[in-house]
Amino acid sequence: MLICPICHTDLVLCGKSYICQHRHSYDLSKDGYVNLHVVQHKNSHNAGDTTVSVQSRRRFLAGGFYAPLQDKIGQIMSDLSPDTVLDIGCGEGYYTSVLAHHSRRVIGLDIAKTAIITASKTYKNQLSGKNITWVVGTGAILPVAQNSVDICTSFFSPLPKGQMLNVLKSDGYLLMATPAPQHLYAMRQRLFDRVNPHNPTKFINELAPEFRLINEWQISHAMILDSQNLTDLMNMTPYAYKAKLDKKTALKSENNFHVTAAFCVYLFKKV
Ligand SMILES: C[S@@+](CC[C@H](N)C(=O)[O-])C[C@H]1O[C@@H](n2cnc3c(N)ncnc32)[C@H](O)[C@@H]1O
Ligand SMILES: [Zn+2]
Repeated sequence: MLICPICHTDLVLCGKSYICQHRHSYDLSKDGYVNLHVVQHKNSHNAGDTTVSVQSRRRFLAGGFYAPLQDKIGQIMSDLSPDTVLDIGCGEGYYTSVLAHHSRRVIGLDIAKTAIITASKTYKNQLSGKNITWVVGTGAILPVAQNSVDICTSFFSPLPKGQMLNVLKSDGYLLMATPAPQHLYAMRQRLFDRVNPHNPTKFINELAPEFRLINEWQISHAMILDSQNLTDLMNMTPYAYKAKLDKKTALKSENNFHVTAAFCVYLFKKV
């Protein structure tokens, strides 16, 4: 399923390294990740999430605040029961870990090395025996073979349409999650003078006509956040650099902040 990012031929796991027919070799770390992000594909403007952002997301998600979304993704995957899944922009693997319980083979891919290292360490024991590979790589040039994936997933992450069409089998699916219009509205009201509702439906248009929407779910739930949760939530979203410092500082002093998380989950079929 994985291909060499240099010559694009299949990679085969030999001992502790992935090797292609031209002898390009990529070591598998002891925690189970491989770096397929070669210098030729690096774009200094996009190194993915920072270490602070990854650690904040790890702490916030471990608090269970987005567990309803994780549960919903598990239910959907259990109905689809795919063979192979590719999670694009998997971050530190919170949702990827659930995919591994409902499929034969999972690849979690992210451009941020620190996210992939965190994922491989966090889920090493929990997912031992599951066929999951953590890959540092870019969605812009996926190191994945053509027609080899049953479901691409992308949760709040890039949607490289051409690349996804290439790696998906002819009857493949795309499962994605994105913020619903009212997501974290009360929080955004505190951070910005004007709050623009999220526009999830734009993805339906952008992905058409090659991807056809076949199902959708709305998930929303109330949360009560303390100062640490609020700090983590700000650091794991673009609000960290978009909002003014005084507004962020004021919000971080709250310890009993009520806010609603709201998501749209879309299932597309490759046409
Ligand atoms: C908002 S985070 C979502 C992470 C994870 N899916 C989750 O929901 O917890 C977006 C992720 O996309 C990754 N990313 C950004 N650009 C990317 C690219 N071109 N290729 C692969 N991953 C990318 C970031 O490093 C980050 O981990
Ligand atoms: Zn090669």
